Amino acid sequence: MLLTELRDIAARLALEAGALAAAGRRDQPIVAGTKSTGTDMVTQFDRAAEEHIVGRLRELRPHDAIVGEEGSSTIGTSGVGWLIDPIDGTTNFLYDLPGWAVSIAAVDHHGTAAGAVHVPSSGELFTAVRGEGAFLTTDRGTTRLRCSEQADLATALVATGFGYAPERRTRQAVRLTRLIGTIRDIRRFGAASVDLCHVAAGRVDGYFEEGLGPWDLAAGELIAREAGCRSGDFRGGAARPEEILVAAPALFDALATAILSADAADS
Ligand code: IPD
Repeated sequence: MLLTELRDIAARLALEAGALAAAGRRDQPIVAGTKSTGTDMVTQFDRAAEEHIVGRLRELRPHDAIVGEEGSSTIGTSGVGWLIDPIDGTTNFLYDLPGWAVSIAAVDHHGTAAGAVHVPSSGELFTAVRGEGAFLTTDRGTTRLRCSEQADLATALVATGFGYAPERRTRQAVRLTRLIGTIRDIRRFGAASVDLCHVAAGRVDGYFEEGLGPWDLAAGELIAREAGCRSGDFRGGAARPEEILVAAPALFDALATAILSADAADS
C-alpha cells in the first residue's frame, strides 16, 4: 500500500466534506446542539460531513478502522485507521467566521502516515505523507511548506486554543497573562488543525494547547513535522492530545520553558 494513496483519499474526502458543509452553511438554517459543555457545539453539518466521510471510506477502504469526532467508531483489520474531524473549529463555523477546517488522518503501526486539512473559507488544502514533506495546494498551485526559522522567544508569534470547560479555559487564560509579556503576541484562530498548518507554513512561529481530541491534531501535527517543525509535549515527551507544542525547531525549548514557567507562577 502506498502512503500517497492514503493522502489522496484524505485530501479528496476533506474537499468533498468541506464543500458539503460550506454549502449547507450557506443554504440552510443551522441546527446546533451542545456536547461536553454548554459552549462545545455540534451542528447538523458536523454530523453530515462525518457521515459523508465515513460512508466514502467504507466504500474505498472497507477493512480500515475509523474514529470520528461525532461518534463514528469502526474496528478494522487492515492495520490502517482514520481519524476524522469533520468540522474543526465548529464555533467559527457556527458564527460564520472563516478558519474552520475538515481534518482527516490515516494512521498505521508507525503513527500518522498521511493527512489532509482543508480550509474551505480560503480554499487551502494542506497535506503531508510521512517522510515526504508537507504541501499547500490552492487554485494557484502546490507549494512545499516550511516552518519559520524563528529562534528568539521575545519576537515569536504564538497561536493557542482553549478547552470548553470553564475551569480549564480560565486556567489557560491566566497562564497566557504571564506568557504574553515574554513573546511578540498571541493568536487564537479557533481550529487546532489550522493552527498546526499555520505553524507548518511559517505564518506563526509556534502553537500549543492542552486537552485536544486525537482527531484535532493527527493530520496537522504530521503536516507541521513534515514542514520541519519540532513537535512534542511541554517536557520533552512526544506530542499527544493532552499536551502539544509545535514550533520552529530553534524556538521550541525556549517556548516550552516559558509555558512551564507561566504555569509554575500559579503554585
Ligand atoms: C476545537 C478547536 C479549537 C480548540 C479546541 C478544539 P472543535 O475543536 O480545534 O481551536 O481550541 O480545543 O476542541 O470542537 O471545533 O472540533
